[in-house]
Amino acid sequence: MSPSPFQSSDSDKGSFLSPPPITPSEYETVRKIVYDQSRINLGPSKKELVMARLSKRLRALGIPTYAQYLDFLGSAAGRDEMTNLIDSISTNHTYFFREPQHFDFLSQVILPEFCENPAHKGGHQFKVWSAATSSGEEPYTISLILDDYFSTRVRGWSWNILCTDISTRVLAKAEEGIFTKDRINPVRADWLIRYFDKGVGESDGFFRVKDSIRRNLTFRVLNLLAPSYPFRDTFQVVFCRNVMIYFDRETQQELVNKIYPLVEPGGYLIIGHAESLTNVKHPFKLVKPSIYRKE
Ligand SMILES: C[S@@+](CC[C@H](N)C(=O)[O-])C[C@H]1O[C@@H](n2cnc3c(N)ncnc32)[C@H](O)[C@@H]1O
Repeated sequence: MSPSPFQSSDSDKGSFLSPPPITPSEYETVRKIVYDQSRINLGPSKKELVMARLSKRLRALGIPTYAQYLDFLGSAAGRDEMTNLIDSISTNHTYFFREPQHFDFLSQVILPEFCENPAHKGGHQFKVWSAATSSGEEPYTISLILDDYFSTRVRGWSWNILCTDISTRVLAKAEEGIFTKDRINPVRADWLIRYFDKGVGESDGFFRVKDSIRRNLTFRVLNLLAPSYPFRDTFQVVFCRNVMIYFDRETQQELVNKIYPLVEPGGYLIIGHAESLTNVKHPFKLVKPSIYRKE
């Protein structure tokens, strides 16, 4: 097991002593590129954060100014840099058991509804999509809930989680499934023993999600803005949390239109507590704030 210390991408704010100055028009160009590529809407207040993050890219590439960086981005040679730009700008903040009411709802309401209801017809397969997976804390939290439920309360079901994100960087971290002790603090002590391998020797202080759990998770890069999604599966639950907040109303509408057909009848869409579908037209029924059901 090779150590892979997790570092929140937010922690790099201010870690550069003297980022090169960015002019208002350069900032506007960066803002527009980021918006076009990801619909992440960077307001004027994000300028410092953007500079701190982009200066890291400038250093990595040996480019001294933002003007030259923008030229490079627009050139054929800089095509791959677009991924790095979006990677460095997107906010990947996440943690285990974030917004815990959603996981309570999953184990106390959704799972019994689908798996303990004799009237429910369907395969014995429980499928979840974590649509903005970030570094994996969200889908691994879900995986612990599912494994516990299917090994203690209801037998005979398989489960899997599709984990997608626009950022290759965080997705690679998620796929590794290695976390430092402080990242997994919210995990119950008995689940820590049951679901994590503890690093030894030079991996001391790191914990890796056990293979028996990780093999139920599939990781794919996916831009939620893509006109359509390259999978046909439907899901009992879609977690699309703390990503819509970056999108304008029109983009939120497009996203919900694309997600709806992928939710099974009786299934759920869960968004972040700070988000709402109030300004979006949709056929879901609001069950609780941030939890929507397809009737
Ligand atoms: C704040 S994190 C949310 C993580 C997790 N869902 C949670 O609630 O803890 C937002 C994630 O959305 C991803 N993201 C931003 N724009 C995206 C897009 N257009 N398509 C897919 N993922 C996107 C970012 O890369 C980031 O990992």
